[in-house]
Amino acid sequence: LVTSALPYANGPIHIGHLVEYIQTDIWVRFQKLRGNRCIYVCADDTHGTAIMIRARKEGRSEEELIAAMSESHQRDFSGFGIEFDHYGSTHSDANRELCGEFWKSLRANDLIAEREIEQLYDPEAQTFLADRFVRGTCPKCGKKDQPGDNCVCGHTYSPTDLIDPKSTLSGATPELRKALHLFVELDKLHEFLATWIDSSDALQSETANYLKGHFLANELRDWDISRPGPYFGFEIPDSPGNYWYVWFDAPIGYIASTKQWCDANGEKLEDWWKSDDCEIHHFIGKDITYFHTLFWPGMLKTAGYSLPTKVRIHGFLTVTGEKMSKHTKPAYLRYFYATKLTARVEDIDLGIDEFTDKINSDLVGKVVNLASRVGKFASSTGLSATYPDDGGLFQAAADAGDEIAAAYESCDYSRAMRRIMELADAANPFVEHAKPWEMKKDADRQDELRDVCTVALNLFRQLTIYLTPVLPELAQQCGDLLGEEITSWEQSKTPLTGTAVAKFQRMMDRVQPEDLKKMIDESKELAAEETKQDNLPTFNDSDQPLKDEPLA
Ligand code: MSP
Ligand code: ZN
Repeated sequence: LVTSALPYANGPIHIGHLVEYIQTDIWVRFQKLRGNRCIYVCADDTHGTAIMIRARKEGRSEEELIAAMSESHQRDFSGFGIEFDHYGSTHSDANRELCGEFWKSLRANDLIAEREIEQLYDPEAQTFLADRFVRGTCPKCGKKDQPGDNCVCGHTYSPTDLIDPKSTLSGATPELRKALHLFVELDKLHEFLATWIDSSDALQSETANYLKGHFLANELRDWDISRPGPYFGFEIPDSPGNYWYVWFDAPIGYIASTKQWCDANGEKLEDWWKSDDCEIHHFIGKDITYFHTLFWPGMLKTAGYSLPTKVRIHGFLTVTGEKMSKHTKPAYLRYFYATKLTARVEDIDLGIDEFTDKINSDLVGKVVNLASRVGKFASSTGLSATYPDDGGLFQAAADAGDEIAAAYESCDYSRAMRRIMELADAANPFVEHAKPWEMKKDADRQDELRDVCTVALNLFRQLTIYLTPVLPELAQQCGDLLGEEITSWEQSKTPLTGTAVAKFQRMMDRVQPEDLKKMIDESKELAAEETKQDNLPTFNDSDQPLKDEPLA
């Protein structure tokens, strides 16, 4: 069972998000190509203050807003070749029911505490305010219009320390109000979490070290799990007027989405979420590490569900805030990300020169070139009846298959791509030296020409099989050309012979640096419109890190 983080329903998908969804999709396609049973589920993350405020502003219901967003997200995902087995929503009956079940088990295990806290309240918008919905004058240096938690001067404070604070929602002056909140007493799970992090092999070592150093070394703070209404979410059954905080119901959405898939496919949820035979892999970005490696395992353990086999954490795309545009070609972005993604939590930079170079010299110049050099001759010759002597190229590439597979398996796509390009480097000189375009002109050399086409197309096919998880469209084109669909990794071990070759169609064009510049410029314009989300957790009297804290 494989998941990607559930994207927030209050903004569109941008090329930063796509790092993750492409990374996950490649892994899922790899598993399927290897013949493993694998399903990929995801959903929109729909709850929270930001959605509520935005719906109010746009004069429509939250339900209408999230329906439109879900459609937009799914359209974008499918445009980039990302194929889910099921795409759900956290605003579903399945999720509400499962949340109730998790909640009961937290109560039954005496993990819930209740107490009043004081928080800023916007009397006009009639809602409590997260820190970043408050701005005012810095109490230290007097600079105006600073955010609720820190000033450009470097001073950090609480929003109640601001001089002349204003709500960013309505402009009203916020007031302090008391409200009842429910907390998960996470430290009661301290020992379990420490043991799990140490012994399960679920986390990258850098992540395990980060958690040990930042959290497990101290007492774990209580986690504020409720919000007073009005709030767009699920009301807590035994605490009327209070709602589960979005980060409570969001990860449960992984299970709810699986449940919906099970119901539609005659499967049992237990086989996926309560079975030792099923591996669970979560792909997430480093900003949400905390939720997935402390709260989530704690919740799963308490409710009697399987713990994740792996939480696979990636870094951030550093050209931030980029939105997609029609100039972003799916295959290019998928390949570029594949060349940059490793098994580590490293950020990824999108450089225009590097991007164009990777596409033009690797994909077009080395891989597709093998096919396009002989493609137009091969449709008349077909493939030779037996595979000709190629100096050991095919066999060497077949032997490299295990190593490439191991790189995919460990999410080191960068290494897989490097290895595949080495094979392409070895294959291209074969065609260069054979000069099929000269054979074409000589009636006596048609058998030779057929042999050269057979070798070049088989080497091309082998590379394409290895690239299938990254470039499903190229795999499709290759299958069409050679009359045999690519469905299994095993096909890389045996050459195709004695079959016809279809009319050659152009497969991929070189990318122009201008196209890419357009993509980035357009993104920057759109980025200005981005609205921030209510995704920050709050802790009682907490200085523990929130979303956005980089990994040490
Ligand atoms: N809704 C939460 C996740 C809930 S999971 C139970 C959320 N949503 S998000 O839309 O903000 O982000 C979705 C995923 O995209 C996260 O894993 C996040 O790390 C990833 N990315 C968002 N921007 C990114 C980059 N610029 N670069 C790489 N990944 C990025 O968080
Ligand atoms: Zn200041």
